[in-house]
Amino acid sequence: TTSGAHDWPAMIESARSHLPESNAHLALLFGLGAPVVIILLNALRQILPKNSSDPPHVFHWIPIVGSAIEYGTNPVPFFMKNKEKHGDVFTFTMLGREITAALGAKGNNFVLGGKSLDFNAEDAYTHFTTPVFGTDVVYDVPNDVFMQQKKFVKVALSVDKFRSYVGMIEEEVEDFIASEPCFAAAKTKGEWGSFDVVDVMQEITILTASRTLQGKEIRSALDKSFAGLYNDLDGGFTPLNFLFPNLPLPSYRKRDAANKKMTEFYVDILRKRIAAGEVDEEDTMASLVQQRYKDGRPLKEHEIAHIMIALLMAGQHTSSATGSWVLLHVARNPDVAQAIYDEQVKHFASPDGRLRDMTYEEMRELPVLDSVIRETLRVHPPIHSIMRKVREPVPVPATLSSPAGKTEGVFVVPKGHFVLASPSVSQVDPTVWADAETWEPKRWREQSGAAASAKEYEKGDGETIDYGYGAVSKGTESPYQPFGAGRHRCIGEQFAYLQLGTILATFVRDFELKLAHDVPEHNYHTMIVMPKHPRQIQYRRRQ
Ligand code: HEM
Repeated sequence: TTSGAHDWPAMIESARSHLPESNAHLALLFGLGAPVVIILLNALRQILPKNSSDPPHVFHWIPIVGSAIEYGTNPVPFFMKNKEKHGDVFTFTMLGREITAALGAKGNNFVLGGKSLDFNAEDAYTHFTTPVFGTDVVYDVPNDVFMQQKKFVKVALSVDKFRSYVGMIEEEVEDFIASEPCFAAAKTKGEWGSFDVVDVMQEITILTASRTLQGKEIRSALDKSFAGLYNDLDGGFTPLNFLFPNLPLPSYRKRDAANKKMTEFYVDILRKRIAAGEVDEEDTMASLVQQRYKDGRPLKEHEIAHIMIALLMAGQHTSSATGSWVLLHVARNPDVAQAIYDEQVKHFASPDGRLRDMTYEEMRELPVLDSVIRETLRVHPPIHSIMRKVREPVPVPATLSSPAGKTEGVFVVPKGHFVLASPSVSQVDPTVWADAETWEPKRWREQSGAAASAKEYEKGDGETIDYGYGAVSKGTESPYQPFGAGRHRCIGEQFAYLQLGTILATFVRDFELKLAHDVPEHNYHTMIVMPKHPRQIQYRRRQ
């Protein structure tokens, strides 16, 4: 139909009326029978003996769709159930894609430590990211070029710059609290008010990232046209876009238009800055202008614009989701809130009783604050599935497939599959973590145990490797990997800690927080794992 809505009974009836009686019966029978036959053949294909080198396959009834609904609705229980049944390595079908999950710390190592010639990120992500970020950056360029771009950004994310960021972030949070209607109760002594934590954290994250990394022009435009463009672009960064990169829908058209306008916006800023001789800003764009590719070439205007867009998108949902979970847990656990507050008083109380500003270095030395963020990232890593596309068949190491009693190399992940690692599984593995499902920041302050080992692991045993964006610890086999590992490891980690730490400290300094309900469940229907409703936090200005 022209409206796109299909009235199946009416269509079948209409088709039937155009056929002789006996043919109509046959057609009807065939119409209903064909799907059943296809489903049965698909089931039969799965239970018949298969190639012995293929990893075990998760059974599914509907061809092509496969396990998409179960995985998409609740990926972690889906992984756990199949891990129990098949071991750490198994394949499932998701809307025509064959995905081989490799779970646990060894699975992380297998996927994240894999060579990009075998396990490729561009092939897995470019259809989704390039329309949003723009061309010639990130997954739209060969890995070697992207690694250089990561290096350029790393220069911009230096500790030197961070020093000036703490005060800026604090100021943005205070201004936000002073002006937002949901914080009106903060003006009256003793009065409780409430706010939707996700709405608030999304706003604060973009305000603070623009004020620091994105630069003053973007920050001031946020109050105007840029916010709308950002929303349109963000509307193109959903699971639907991941599954179907181009559909004739308004959200897709808005995404493409927003990318174009945003690119022009950044290029315009760049030109104005150069014309005015403003090259000494503390932000990322100023730093990118000074960088050169290995062959001596400076970045083109649109490359700078697209890297800026990529950074905006990479940091926004990951940080705002983490910040939301942090505040929810802190509100739910007043003893933890008190411990953070006491830590602030201990380090920053001045003789007049006020709390002075933190410096970046001081903030990184606050064990309670640090443990709250670490623990939140353990229980709620924003990215539950990290994927690569398989360019060459890769044997699964025996140490990974051996629980099922197999010998080395017996499983081979075929070319064309995707491989998937999940920090969400290894980070709550009960064989690794004591009381794995419980949010307990204290574990990060203990001298032994899984958290202490994970911290040791981060430091590495001195062995580092440089993929082109600076040396990183060589090991990828840690059960704790909220920021990924290896070639594609996050370069925003330090900034995220700075941003989240400053926001959390500011909230705890200002408010007593309460949560009238349990910490909400995970919503997996968004690209980044968010809290479901209700997620309203109550606050009262601290006396
Ligand atoms: C990569 C998590 C914040 C920029 C990654 C990856 C993860 C991750 C898991 C690896 C993806 C993969 O291997 O496919 C997080 C979390 C954050 C966070 C949990 C906050 C709590 C940020 C911020 C920025 C950023 C603030 C930018 C300022 C990047 C970049 C990559 C990356 C450029 C590299 C992608 C690649 O090499 O393929 N992040 N991220 N992230 N992240 Fe973050």
